[in-house]
Amino acid sequence: MIPVLRMFEVVVATAFYSGICYMIFEGTARQFTKMGIGTSMFPHQTPELMIISTIHSKPCKYSPGDHYNFMSIVNKQDYARLHSYKIIATSAVADPTLDNMWNKVGWLLKAYHEHPEIEWYLWIDSDTMIINPTFEMPLKKFKGKDLIIWGNETALLEGDGRNGMNSGVMLFRRTPWMEEFLTKVAALGRIPEPELGKVLKKGLTAPSYKYDSGLRDQNAITYVLKQAWEEHQPHVLLVNKQYCLNCYWRDLLREGDLRSDDTKVHFINHFSGCQLCTQQNKDGDYGVCEAEYKKSFEYANGVFTKLLKRMPPRDINHQKQLAGTPYCKANDRAKECRVAVTAVAAYKERRAEEMRAHLDSDSDLPTSRHMLASAA
Ligand SMILES: *[C@@H]1O[C@H](CO)[C@@H](O)[C@H](O)[C@H]1NC(C)=O
Repeated sequence: MIPVLRMFEVVVATAFYSGICYMIFEGTARQFTKMGIGTSMFPHQTPELMIISTIHSKPCKYSPGDHYNFMSIVNKQDYARLHSYKIIATSAVADPTLDNMWNKVGWLLKAYHEHPEIEWYLWIDSDTMIINPTFEMPLKKFKGKDLIIWGNETALLEGDGRNGMNSGVMLFRRTPWMEEFLTKVAALGRIPEPELGKVLKKGLTAPSYKYDSGLRDQNAITYVLKQAWEEHQPHVLLVNKQYCLNCYWRDLLREGDLRSDDTKVHFINHFSGCQLCTQQNKDGDYGVCEAEYKKSFEYANGVFTKLLKRMPPRDINHQKQLAGTPYCKANDRAKECRVAVTAVAAYKERRAEEMRAHLDSDSDLPTSRHMLASAA
């Protein structure tokens, strides 16, 4: 079994998240190289890709939830470091008129305006784990497309706000279409409930679907697409077979394996409905979901550890460097930031040591959860 997180780390992470909650990890290997912290194993030229992921701006009601959030951030940070991608990982609200679940729209627009050097913006919800560290988006195949997203055209056109598409992982290309599209979604985001529900229900008319305000950002995106599908369709690539951009954790659990193969690439495990921050899981399987979430982190962390360990110095030093850089310095509570970053680094480093003991003895990475389970 996965060791229980040490209490002090949870406390530190909670304290950290309860107040400062502002870190922008422009954590590119380019920057690290400037600071003398190794180089990427996957050197990139253009096009530039930026990952954007945000966590709640307020502390979680269920305190280990804050630590889970941080695990998600670290997972994205490791991925970005491995592939030399830029990353914004933050708990700040980008636009005060777009809070809560609309923050993703706010951040995508902010990144669009402030980072014109970026060609691709990859939004990833925080209740996710990247479980295939070496997978890269096949950007060359997305020629002429401006939004790559999991979706089902039939359900989308029926106006099914749940099954039409999923806004948990979205890859946007920097084009005028991106800005126009997100501006339309943002306009919906500024309408308060219950008026918003009334507007959206005009488009979300699938017989089996009932409007769910908990999915309102996703519903708004579905609505905007459906309202003018002929106009938007040439810009949108709905992916649902070739690449599992946004795997549903229950599907992966049923398949019983985290391994990817040539026919279907599992990239991100999405813990939708799990409610890691509140534990208010409507499906009554919080414990199973939490265990899967931790297992996904551990699995990916094992692979990252193996791949990144050739990038000296190792994680603890890397994180200490982070703590001394603008990530923490620009923060009102710089001291807590340094403590929290270092505590999570210590956890990672300890796990890395344990894993190295297993991994160094065999030449292969763990390729399935079965192997991970038997090693632990
Ligand atoms: C797409 O949606 C339609 C209508 O809801 C459904 O019948 C079909 O099974 C869905 N296809 C996939 C691949 O999920």
